Amino acid sequence: MVRKLEIQENILAGQRALVTGASSGIGRAIALSLAEAGARVAVNYLHGDDEAEEIVEEIKKKGGEALAVKADVGKEDEVKSMFRRMFDAYGSIDILVNNAGLQKDSPVHMMSLDDWNLVLSVNLTGQFLCSREATNEFIRRGVAPELSCAAGKIICISSVHDLIPWAGHANYAASKGGVMMLMRSMAQELAPFRIRVNSISPGAIKTAINTAAWSTPEAERELLKLIPYKRVGEPLDVAKAAVWLASDHSDYVTGATLYVDGGMTLYPGFSEGG
Ligand code: BGC
Repeated sequence: MVRKLEIQENILAGQRALVTGASSGIGRAIALSLAEAGARVAVNYLHGDDEAEEIVEEIKKKGGEALAVKADVGKEDEVKSMFRRMFDAYGSIDILVNNAGLQKDSPVHMMSLDDWNLVLSVNLTGQFLCSREATNEFIRRGVAPELSCAAGKIICISSVHDLIPWAGHANYAASKGGVMMLMRSMAQELAPFRIRVNSISPGAIKTAINTAAWSTPEAERELLKLIPYKRVGEPLDVAKAAVWLASDHSDYVTGATLYVDGGMTLYPGFSEGG
């Protein structure tokens, strides 16, 4: 069944979304965009109560519905209670965006086990824990045809570093490589339940995680050498892709990785020579 979608702006009307790590950066833009598309949004965060509340207020001012839910996505009990709070407020979930992530950079021979574990816990285990809770609900409820063709949508925010090796960031790259196979395996396993699972792999996007890479003209010039499209991305570039993947416009898409990277994964070093 291909659903007729006429009102683009309200493309997610009635659906309930949880966005992890939504108090800043890419997560914030995704939460705002999903709300603009008509979804009620649970704004997960760990640090920054004020920032999370501001996003909730911004959504409400525009006539939307949102709530802030504090939880460490790497902790099973906190994830479970976050989903309980969301279900108490909204009754169910239709869209999960696994966005929470961080970097703890160091050369591999100097990397502490704590920094390895923290990155893996938030970036990979967090995606598993949240996906598990959402999936249980998607399977329990099944398709609600008035809302969507699918019983649920999971969007994993990965990185170009699920493909591009990254010296000095082995924990981060390993976590994102893991996200890719978690996403693809879940997509294969869950398709018969009409649950779609996809990734967005952003390239360099202007957020707090990589300020040093774009905040001075010299740094930006260096960064642009890696980006054939010759501009550094904005959180909204990723958010637009997330709205599409959450909507029935992408109903036949599952197990896909959408690189939103201005061509960073196109081996720009090979544009001459090779
Ligand atoms: C990282 C950024 C980096 C970008 C491109 C992202 O996944 O979090 O720090 O600028 O990849 O290398």
